[in-house]
Amino acid sequence: MQNNQSTGYMKSNQRAVTTLRLIEMKRNNQKIICLTAYDALIAGILDSAGVDVLLVGDSVGNVVQGHETTIPVTLEDIIYHTKAVKRGAQRALVVADMPFMSYQVNTDEAFRNAGRLMKEAGAGAVKLEGGMRVAETVSRMTEAGIPVMGHLGLTPQSINQFGTYRPRGKDEEEAQQIINDAIALQDAGAFAIVLEKIPAPLAKQVSEKLIVPTIGIGAGVHCDGQILVYTDMLGLTVDFNPRFVRRYGNLHEQIMKAVTAYGDDIRSSAFPNESESY
Ligand code: KIV
Repeated sequence: MQNNQSTGYMKSNQRAVTTLRLIEMKRNNQKIICLTAYDALIAGILDSAGVDVLLVGDSVGNVVQGHETTIPVTLEDIIYHTKAVKRGAQRALVVADMPFMSYQVNTDEAFRNAGRLMKEAGAGAVKLEGGMRVAETVSRMTEAGIPVMGHLGLTPQSINQFGTYRPRGKDEEEAQQIINDAIALQDAGAFAIVLEKIPAPLAKQVSEKLIVPTIGIGAGVHCDGQILVYTDMLGLTVDFNPRFVRRYGNLHEQIMKAVTAYGDDIRSSAFPNESESY
């Protein structure tokens, strides 16, 4: 493992984050910091700033590829982006999202595809959506040494089944199903579970029932960690405004300003100046 030579977060004695470390963090009441990443440049910055988990989410479909949903994302896409994120990350655990139809056909295919994400792309773990219905697949992977992160609540790959991105688990039946699914995933060996867009009291209940950490997105403060799509929290995207996104930057505005100034300088021949020329 390389050391970060810059003034960044990772010091020479800081170990890479492992799945066991995340479980230990929950035990020690230490919150887990997660963000998505899709390339080496951003992965390096987020890693240096102390992010524990970098998720190569299938949100790459919306954020990078310009799709409406995550459905078109392929396994090859995730392999490509995971390789890049791995090159940028030094300390963070890199988790590769399993895209739609890469694990639903049957357990053998899911197993093979998860293996590709680990061997070819260098992921430290994989993530997949669903509870009891994927528990057998999760068992098969974890028994073979492939760490799995679960994903419950709003599961964007099922958008065509549900037809809306409304919060999940608001009625008693759906809430109980989420609890049962979380337990099934933990029993199958999942090392962590993303809880997306569910009521905070339900997320608290799930978090208290589990030994493995919960990672919330729109699931309240009682989760063991939090994740956001990095372009949302940095204000690079501006037309996606769910209440769970807090903006810590305004990169969209800053880029607009910088590029407008660049254009103005070119038009007026103020750029390049003498010291920028040979
Ligand atoms: O794909 C993704 O970015 C995700 C997170 C929002 C949890 O699944």
